[in-house]
Amino acid sequence: MTESAAQDGTATQGAAAQDAAAQGEAPLLEARELTKHFIVHRKSRAVRAQARGARRAPSDHHAGEEHPAEPELAPAPKRHHKRALVHAVEQVSVSLPAGGITAVVGESGSGKSTLARMLARLIVPTSGEILLDGRPVPASARHRRDYARDVQLVLQDPFSSLNPIHDIRYHLSRPLLVHHMARRGPELEQAMGSLLQRVALTPPDQFLYKYPHELSGGQRQRVAIARALAVRPRVLLADEPVSMLDVSIRLGVLNLLAGLRADDQLSILYITHDIASARYLADSIMVMYAGQVAETGPAATVTDEPAHPYTTLLLSAAPDPDRAEPPSVAGRGAPPSLVTPPSGCRFHPRCPHAMAVCAQRTPPAFEVAAGHQSACWLHAAGLSSAESQPLAGRADGLVPSPPAPAPGKEP
Ligand SMILES: Nc1ncnc2c1ncn2[C@@H]1O[C@H](COP(=O)(O)OP(=O)(O)OP(=O)(O)O)[C@@H](O)[C@H]1O
Ligand code: SF4
Ligand SMILES: [Mg+2]
Repeated sequence: MTESAAQDGTATQGAAAQDAAAQGEAPLLEARELTKHFIVHRKSRAVRAQARGARRAPSDHHAGEEHPAEPELAPAPKRHHKRALVHAVEQVSVSLPAGGITAVVGESGSGKSTLARMLARLIVPTSGEILLDGRPVPASARHRRDYARDVQLVLQDPFSSLNPIHDIRYHLSRPLLVHHMARRGPELEQAMGSLLQRVALTPPDQFLYKYPHELSGGQRQRVAIARALAVRPRVLLADEPVSMLDVSIRLGVLNLLAGLRADDQLSILYITHDIASARYLADSIMVMYAGQVAETGPAATVTDEPAHPYTTLLLSAAPDPDRAEPPSVAGRGAPPSLVTPPSGCRFHPRCPHAMAVCAQRTPPAFEVAAGHQSACWLHAAGLSSAESQPLAGRADGLVPSPPAPAPGKEP
């Protein structure tokens, strides 16, 4: 498929998915207010101090001296590990229409993979609900198996997701046989051939007996996608499927995903750091920051008229052929700790528009236009003058211009 054909297909299918949503059809896959808190065990201050002492001890001895024995640690206090919560994902809702592509964009640690892993039911949400075809998925083994077939996850690193000791034939035949998609013999051969053809690895015979290390990064990712397609899924959760590939072959894999949605009505969640590729591929974009949703809306609107300062920051860091230096969000502040996230709006320590209210209260999602929402106090009407005071010591000069407030609403 050519680039323009892929874009045409993307536009038509995207419009169809949006029509379905407008007609009130239930999304194929929906997450409602998903939250995930990981429990981690951190060493207490006493244990950390002890370990520091132990590390310092060897440097006290001098060359030529006999190496001192390992310092003995005093018995560890009984409660030597503290429990801490990582607030990885908080109250995130997303819906995937049949034949639609939704992109989730955000910096490292914003909770994108955790969201995908919850949607794939690899980890259990702390709270929230996942609906397939508008219904919760029962806990029985049969329903879980059916769900696992319908909703497939494709990972970032095709090298680690393929087993290096097995050839491509093994990787494709296994899901086909385990899920009774084909019987051994000519049917299996034909099914493997057509999978390889769908991901443009042709002629199939040239790839079936190769091992993952004999393929390029792009070819390995195509095999990983073919393996996911073997069970005829309805939803593909693609977690940064192109971020480890050379720039020159990324477009080919993105066009492959666009073609799969056009041909098979596949619903795709496309996870990426790169908002430019999200705009290219997706119908709608959800921007995540520090585990929360910052902005959602149609891809063109979110990228042309961003309504959240964090989206503006991502856009200012997106690759631009007219810019001499490759930009980066690094050096424009860093995402916060999710063990002790900032109060109020989690972006406020980095936001050049932060106001007093931003450090106190979490902004709700404001509707800035039909289907376009931003969780930012700049869109609130009726803030008091004390609440809208610039926040003392706010990070100035990181973002070029403030997002436009919603029509009729004063910041
Ligand atoms: N099993 C886990 N236990 C504890 N913390 C975790 C676990 N998995 C993820 N986290 C934390 O949750 C937060 C979100 O991680 P996640 O992998 O979802 O981010 P991401 O947006 O996918 O980042 P990246 O772009 O680097 O892949 C991070 O702070 C991460 O350290
Ligand atoms: S203006 Fe306030 S609410 Fe909006 S992004 Fe900045 S800190 Fe957050
Ligand atoms: Mg990730």
